Amino acid sequence: MCGIVGYLGPRDASKVLIEGLARLEYRGYDSAGVAVLNGSGLKLRRAVGRLRNLADSLKADPLVGHMGIGHTRWATHGAPAEKNAHPHSSEDGKVAVIHNGIIENYRDLKGELQAAGVRFASETDTECIAHLVARHYQGDLLAAVHAAVKRLHGAWALVVAHADHPDLLVVARRGSPLLIGLGQSENFVASDVTPLLPYTRQVIYLDEGQLATVSRGQVRVFDAALKPVAHKVETSELTLDAAEKGGFEHFMLKEIHEQPVAVEATLRGRIQGGRVDLSELSLDAAALKSVRRLQLIACGTSLYSAMVGKYLLEQRTALPTECWSASEYRYADPVIDPSVLVIAISQSGETADTLEALRLARGRGARTIAICNVMGSSIPRTCDATLYTRAGPEIGVASTKAYTAQLAAFELLALGLGRLLGRPDDAEEARVVKGLEALPAQIRRLLDGDIVGVKRCAKRYQSVTNFMYIGRHFNYPTALEGALKLKEISYIHAEGYPGGEMKHGPLALVEGTFPTIAICPRGRTREKMISNIQEIKARKGVVVVVATEGDQEARELADYLIEIPPCEEEVSPILAVVPLQLLAYYTATQLGRDVDKPRNLAKSVTVE
Ligand code: G6P
Repeated sequence: MCGIVGYLGPRDASKVLIEGLARLEYRGYDSAGVAVLNGSGLKLRRAVGRLRNLADSLKADPLVGHMGIGHTRWATHGAPAEKNAHPHSSEDGKVAVIHNGIIENYRDLKGELQAAGVRFASETDTECIAHLVARHYQGDLLAAVHAAVKRLHGAWALVVAHADHPDLLVVARRGSPLLIGLGQSENFVASDVTPLLPYTRQVIYLDEGQLATVSRGQVRVFDAALKPVAHKVETSELTLDAAEKGGFEHFMLKEIHEQPVAVEATLRGRIQGGRVDLSELSLDAAALKSVRRLQLIACGTSLYSAMVGKYLLEQRTALPTECWSASEYRYADPVIDPSVLVIAISQSGETADTLEALRLARGRGARTIAICNVMGSSIPRTCDATLYTRAGPEIGVASTKAYTAQLAAFELLALGLGRLLGRPDDAEEARVVKGLEALPAQIRRLLDGDIVGVKRCAKRYQSVTNFMYIGRHFNYPTALEGALKLKEISYIHAEGYPGGEMKHGPLALVEGTFPTIAICPRGRTREKMISNIQEIKARKGVVVVVATEGDQEARELADYLIEIPPCEEEVSPILAVVPLQLLAYYTATQLGRDVDKPRNLAKSVTVE
């Protein structure tokens, strides 16, 4: 959600913080701030709006120092305003705090602090922490942070600086990610690894409930009872290139073009001799035999990949499979017991709704598997096994390559589980595996092909205010995802619908200028989709058809035709979504939208 950076060392702290925040801005971008320790104490600078406002302010009036903390915010408590931007400080200005997460009992704490005479300067939950630390402080910052954290309910990644400790940051984590980057005579803290990449790839991921002290030359990690604990230094596999735009105008466009590589990487090593090999998951075949039902939980784009996953898993395992929006799962009394296998799908591995749903399932004895893109994030840490997608860092808020990589992972998981559960079908597996192996080249061909056509299509319909996307079976979720992409980044209203349901309501919307995007590749539902398109054409609606190359009937019906290469129908969602991503991208850019940072949204939603 929000982005966190902290620095101690010989460099200009403001510069490190601003550059780091720029790499994190996708996590939240309604305001930003830094606190830098200079000769006359901890100096705060905050600005509403994009990070460049803060950067401009620091350029005009620099804050010079070698220790500092910085934050980019996505508002939860308190509107985007300078006073609500982090860092927040104690009344005497000596303590500065940045925070990612939500303090659920902040009203009680605030009441208690106000009753004791503390005056609050913001409407945030975070400010309580600064006052609590100040009240507990008696010369030992770690002890004060520990005492403050003991009073908190909710989730936090916290970094605390104190004006009297020029070589110390105290950090704490519960529910929100936080890591420490190790340099030579300098150290860093951050909410994810990307801001650290120009300086170091050596990182310590803090575990749930841990605290740490970070100074230039030393890092010490403690458990929730303040007992020192050993920590593991890991080397991040990410490179700086992966977190930069590489000549593309936007991260989203770069990430759309990275899909052949993302899918290829997700398949790599997991297909041996024409068969899926998921031995890396160390799944216990005997234990799996007791699984009676599958439940898939996810949010946003990951939820749509789960909807495709449901069809694939039911086809291969013959186990009843439910697909749940994670935010609904927790409050809907789902039937969970040890015979359930829960699969959580998440790009970031930090989505609070998914994580909490997962914890509920584990608490009731379910087995758990994650499909996740971020190594070491909270969701894989909470699961029995993880099938990592290997899409590389996804920075654009609208998910693209993570989605197609998740779909590829589901194809593998469905075939792998089918075999483990005693339903191997060699011929079927060989057919789908062949389809999967062809995908990277086919996506490349799509991307090298009719982009001009998609651009023209985007131009033609950009002034329309409502869109309908329809698909059936494997490509009903493609319709939902196509509509979501358009909504997210162009702010045009779009709805995804099962093609067969049009006649039960939405057909009433259709008239001369109303566009429907129909996803209609070869496969068992093509004929039915063609009928649905005909129903729309009969009512003079405009139809953009995504069809398999060479489909003459689709060509004749379409006002605009987008072709995808011939493929196995199970893998068609991976190909069909690509032009829809591009259609949303070009519509949004032609409307002048901020594609990588759409209004009101955040990449990783770590609040429920
Ligand atoms: C946010 C992002 C979406 C993403 C969703 C779930 O809403 O903007 O792009 O699909 O979170 O995120 P996850 O990291 O769990 O896949």
